Amino acid sequence: IPCEIFSNPKEGSRYVAKEIATLIKDKQAKGEKCVLGLATGSTPINMYAELVRLHKEEGLSFKNVITFNLDEYYPLEKDAYQSYWSFMHRHLFNHIDIDPANIHIPNGEWQKETIKARCQEYEQLIDNAGGIDLQVLGIGNNGHIGFNEPGSSFFSKTRLINLDNSTRVANAREFQNIAKVPRLAITMGISTIMKSKRIILMAWGFKAAIIAKSVEGDVTEQVPASILQQHNNCTFVLDENTSAELT
Ligand code: F6R
Repeated sequence: IPCEIFSNPKEGSRYVAKEIATLIKDKQAKGEKCVLGLATGSTPINMYAELVRLHKEEGLSFKNVITFNLDEYYPLEKDAYQSYWSFMHRHLFNHIDIDPANIHIPNGEWQKETIKARCQEYEQLIDNAGGIDLQVLGIGNNGHIGFNEPGSSFFSKTRLINLDNSTRVANAREFQNIAKVPRLAITMGISTIMKSKRIILMAWGFKAAIIAKSVEGDVTEQVPASILQQHNNCTFVLDENTSAELT
């Protein structure tokens, strides 16, 4: 997997935002839609801030952009501060000119009995949009991408999953305490992610071991991100910390 290494997360984030902006503008020039797959968590926050800056200061328009988010806690009200729906609006959508009808996020309010059908519909919506042009990913310390925890099938599609305990602990900071972190989530599957035409995985800070395993280790369902070795257009954008254990 090609890796771009930056001295700090801000520079890496600017690099990714620039690639996204270039894609949006190229598509605009051709009169085409631009379909983005988006992630939440601490990793992409600076990148979203840079996209907002490009919109406000450099006139980057999101009118032709369609988005699909990777995941959402389940169950959780859309309006909860911790929901990824809220996160995306707080960090990006409230500050740009995207058409709200073009925003897609798995919904933590879906009725349990309808989830299967809703997940199939989510896959269908991605296909109808022409597939994801560029998918942004973070990575969990256990190698998860989206909320595809270790053991997720490489053939998996959008579905309801159990969160690993380590993921609930890592994300407890967003909630009052660990007991308040939902045990379930809805996530795009590994095969959904792999169908994207271009993938950029960002990682900063204390993730050197899992980055080395993902880039250089065996391709195994025990390390979900390792499947990215088999994608033909995937780049990892790292800082010096996260690249420290690459040979
Ligand atoms: C979030 C997502 C997760 C995170 C991962 C890292 O939409 O898909 O895979 O990217 O858990 O989270 P942070 O960035 O908070 O370290």
